[in-house]
Amino acid sequence: MADEVTIDPWSAAQSTDYSRIIEQFGLSRVDLSTIPDPHMHHRRGIIFAHRDLELVLDAHRLGEPFGVLTGLMPSGRMHLGHKMVIDQVKWFQEHGADVSIAIADLEAHATRGRTLAECRRVALEEYVANYAALGLDVERTSIYFQSGRPIVQRLGFTLGRRTNLSEFEAIYGFGGETNLAHVQAPLVQVGDIIHPQLDEYGGLRPIVVPVGVDQDPHLRLTRGLARKTNWFNVNSRKEGGLVIGLSVQDDNRAALGVAADGSVDMTVRDAVFDRLTGSLAELGFSDWDANPAHGTLEVPGATASDRNGIRMSLLRLERESGGLGLLQPSSTYHQFAIGMTGDKMSSSEPDTTIFLTDDVESMERKVNASFSGGQPTLEEHRRLGGNPDVDVAFQYLRYFFEPDDAVLAEAEAGYRSGEILTGQMKRMCIDRAAAWLTELAERRDETAHLVDDFLAPDAKS
Ligand code: TRP
Repeated sequence: MADEVTIDPWSAAQSTDYSRIIEQFGLSRVDLSTIPDPHMHHRRGIIFAHRDLELVLDAHRLGEPFGVLTGLMPSGRMHLGHKMVIDQVKWFQEHGADVSIAIADLEAHATRGRTLAECRRVALEEYVANYAALGLDVERTSIYFQSGRPIVQRLGFTLGRRTNLSEFEAIYGFGGETNLAHVQAPLVQVGDIIHPQLDEYGGLRPIVVPVGVDQDPHLRLTRGLARKTNWFNVNSRKEGGLVIGLSVQDDNRAALGVAADGSVDMTVRDAVFDRLTGSLAELGFSDWDANPAHGTLEVPGATASDRNGIRMSLLRLERESGGLGLLQPSSTYHQFAIGMTGDKMSSSEPDTTIFLTDDVESMERKVNASFSGGQPTLEEHRRLGGNPDVDVAFQYLRYFFEPDDAVLAEAEAGYRSGEILTGQMKRMCIDRAAAWLTELAERRDETAHLVDDFLAPDAKS
């Protein structure tokens, strides 16, 4: 279709038609009323969409474990865009999540030509040093390198069996000329996203991946692959209630009671159904309609809100029976702040963003030179008002530097009415940003000794 949006995680150009993205890729909108103690990015609609976030919020409410995983490519200096992900990680951490962060050195090597040694140096100096300064809790954060965690790559292989080049072409636009290291990178990312739920890395629990919407293709791929491995699926029943079905695959045929000749081995199958109904009974259900020969189990009394609990217990059962028992990851998506020149933020274009290690003078120069939503003349500005929606100084206050919603709303209204001038808006942004950068630099010095403690054992040199 001509008006389809494409999302290319490696491209500098990014669609900002967020409503269309939600619709086309089947994202859910964030419902602010369900978010406990929302972050300013939630309150301001900047974190605008998610997949299966309820799973994570339920775990939080019930005091059950959940994790967050994200990753960053160590391919340049850390800037404000990268910080947004860490803000979200920190918010989840403050609400009880354990945190894993992938340093995507294999991806940077594959797609940006960096050596692994360069990646390591940049990751520690630019990224981890800032994570520490931004206040991630060293006790509950574990940072690893893709190249240093073989299970991540192995999962990429295991799950890679369930996809093919056509799917990669559809999701990523890969073609005959695509470098094969580049083809592997998404599978490594699948491994990143899935592995925290393995028993050695914390076990089955919801894992949420906070990212920019440019990363959604990886989430779609990962969720699809996880689902394809599941032995039991749960669907809505036409007459109401839910129906559990067996998904017979090459590697679970025997366990699910399918004999070599394709016939159903009823002894094995009945035992599987005993375990299934046992799980349901544990969840408090007593009414079901089992059809073992057919491989279906109907639960008329189950409602949509029972679904997640049932799914989790089926995944546990699958693991006990020898399957992977993989839960589809959850995700949240944030919108992108505009680059300071009006283009997209990019590490390779220093004037498009503020780096976390910028000094106050460079920041000030960039804000002063930044794209403004003001009118060409003072007279016109007073009469017509400015446009905060495209004004970099205002938007950077909104995304990064002004935590107080009331102050922000006042600045916005004042700018729109023409009462606040462009120079004043820039001044306000510079003042807030200067205080923030200065404090961050101090915190970096204070926390420098922690950098090594953030690294997982397999990431230490
Ligand atoms: N691809 C991401 C980027 O370009 C980095 C990344 C690697 C990642 N593994 C991940 C992000 C897992 C989220 C989850 O920045």
